[in-house]
Amino acid sequence: MGPTGSPDGTERAQAGDFLTTAQGLRLPDTDHSLKAGDRGPTLLEDFHLREKITHFDHERIPERVVHARGSAAHGVFESYGTAASVTKAGFLAGGRQTEVFVRFSTVLGSRGSADTVRDTRGFAVKFYTDEGTFDLVGNNIPVFFIQDGIKFPDVIHAAKPHPDREIPQAQSAHDTFWDFASLHTEATHHVMWNMSDRGIPRSYRTMEGFGVHTFRLVNEAGATSLVKFHWKPAAGVHSLVWEEAQITAGIDPDFHRRDMADGIEAGAFLEYELGIQVMPDDGSDSFEGIDLLDPTKLVPEELAPVQLIGKLTLNRNPTNFFAETEQVAFHTGHLVPGIEVTDDPLMQARLFSYLDTQLTRLGGPNFAQLPVNRPHCPVNDMLRDGMHQTAVHTGLAPYRPNSIDGGKPLVAAAGEGGYVQVARRIEGTPVRANPASFDDHYSQATMFYRSLTPVEQAHIVEAFTFELGKCYEQVIKERELQVLANVDADLCAQVAAGLGLPVPKGRPAQDVVLSSALSQVTTEPGPIAGRKIGVIADAGADLAGIGKLRKAAEKLGATVLVIAPVGGVLADGSREVIVDRTLLTARSVEFDAIVVAGKTTPVSDIKLVLLLQEAFRHLKVLGAWGDGTAVLEAAGISADSPGVVTGPSAAKPFTQQLAAAVGLHRVWDRAPNVMASAVPPASGDAQHA
Ligand code: HEM
Repeated sequence: MGPTGSPDGTERAQAGDFLTTAQGLRLPDTDHSLKAGDRGPTLLEDFHLREKITHFDHERIPERVVHARGSAAHGVFESYGTAASVTKAGFLAGGRQTEVFVRFSTVLGSRGSADTVRDTRGFAVKFYTDEGTFDLVGNNIPVFFIQDGIKFPDVIHAAKPHPDREIPQAQSAHDTFWDFASLHTEATHHVMWNMSDRGIPRSYRTMEGFGVHTFRLVNEAGATSLVKFHWKPAAGVHSLVWEEAQITAGIDPDFHRRDMADGIEAGAFLEYELGIQVMPDDGSDSFEGIDLLDPTKLVPEELAPVQLIGKLTLNRNPTNFFAETEQVAFHTGHLVPGIEVTDDPLMQARLFSYLDTQLTRLGGPNFAQLPVNRPHCPVNDMLRDGMHQTAVHTGLAPYRPNSIDGGKPLVAAAGEGGYVQVARRIEGTPVRANPASFDDHYSQATMFYRSLTPVEQAHIVEAFTFELGKCYEQVIKERELQVLANVDADLCAQVAAGLGLPVPKGRPAQDVVLSSALSQVTTEPGPIAGRKIGVIADAGADLAGIGKLRKAAEKLGATVLVIAPVGGVLADGSREVIVDRTLLTARSVEFDAIVVAGKTTPVSDIKLVLLLQEAFRHLKVLGAWGDGTAVLEAAGISADSPGVVTGPSAAKPFTQQLAAAVGLHRVWDRAPNVMASAVPPASGDAQHA
């Protein structure tokens, strides 16, 4: 079907072989305007010209005020039924399958900004359930910058580009953000996560997702539990390294978008399991001393294990980015029976904000009728008229009570699927204040930092040093150092050293219980579906070996891309291999691993040296079979270095070892030698490139 095909098969959808006006009039020409002679002025009479240009003039709609840059996919959610004891939500009953649409996004950048910037990622899931649409509008970070939604405009104004020059784009590394963060210390925990590797994910498929807020689940019997939602990626939780993220923003600003679309097209679907942490709803809204209404706090998995309740598979790319990804409208108020919100003041403001902003973004109140937003269950809403009304309603009585339409639509009791909030008592004196339990801004930031491995901690030090190093105002750097002093003295001292500033004294929490679940470094190889392996080869290379490697990689859902000095085809008589990248078009950031095919001749080309050394510096797996090791050695990389996989041929032992190494994501053992990531090789020690 062509782009003007009839996707929904309806009679009046775009169809037919001939180009027409919007009114269906066939057109003889769309390349020349109607003029008074071929050198004469254009005639106002040219209705086709005016229609074409007018429509074009209005092709853009306002981008989202936050999360403008995003990418999405369709998929399916299969419930395990394991949540049935805590919620009556029908789509979470055993054996149920529900269609979903998921949009991933960055928060700060505008629509055209780069994917790999340091930022929180949105992880918004629309479940088209039989009982109405449920949106789980989460992030890849389990806590938030603010405790009360009234601060949202403040944090976003501070983080967005400076209002005078509108720079920097999609970055937190600037004065206004750190001015706010250093004064508004409840942001500290979220800031720690943003400065950690979580702020630069490798791929959407390697991100965790979190509902952030505490939700109230209600079961068939009316019993309630307090719950936090988690998405656990099947591919593990993995990130870029900072230099790689920066290079990628220039080399391929669409890195995450491309990665997801390519993966889905190749059949390497993105998979996540949905999990819940279940806490008792005992009236205290707290658990083990943690205030569950404070969105700057998480519940460590060691205290409340994540119970898996279903599986999400993203298996279909949108056919039209604008119609689906751009026009989708998520809303925290899209709830279904069995899932309710709590009194978290951040959530309460969100319940207002999404519908309100979408009225402007989508040009009126009828955007729920857009195909991507339309529920997959019957709708009978009595909402009428308004801009862009596309429904042709029948009936005379969009009001209740009525007798004209037989009293319909009816209201539904809880037993008939009606959304009836569980009874809870609400009382209090109007007050603009936080509970005292919201005052602890540091202890969980300390827990997060200290729960990480040394290499992850070093990345945080590097990130703070970079971000504050980009600020102009000395007083802002000093104030943020004071914040860090209250998180961890060592962290503060290292960042202060990098900034060349004195180390302030703080009072970090003493008795913090660590949570190893917060670290993303793994010692068990994970799946490699969606990963990209570059193979360096030339005209004389072992093409049969490349074939074996490709077969082994594709079986695991990974892709092999051949990199040769020039483009075209490599041939050895019986076999042909297409060159995917040349030394000019390849950059290391595209690959999760780079191997050299046997019989490839070493060449002294600076681009090849850069390719291999950059991958080495970014802790990626390198490899070679046969005498391909000579190419590595020529680039100054010893075959004995950690994370360099070698073998006599591209047979199974080599490919298995390679897959296991890629499955570990990075060669962490190499980190101490290359930690000063942008530093050139020390003379005589090429391994430290
Ligand atoms: C836990 C805190 C929050 C999370 C996890 C979160 C998550 C998200 C996500 C994932 C999106 C992108 C939706 C999409 O892909 O279309 C989004 C958009 C948005 N968020 Fe939030 N958000 C949070 C807090 C807030 C708060 C406090 C407000 C305002 C009071 C807010 C207002 C908005 C707005 C206005 C949009 C744009 C929506 C649109 O144009 O469709 N968010 N948020």
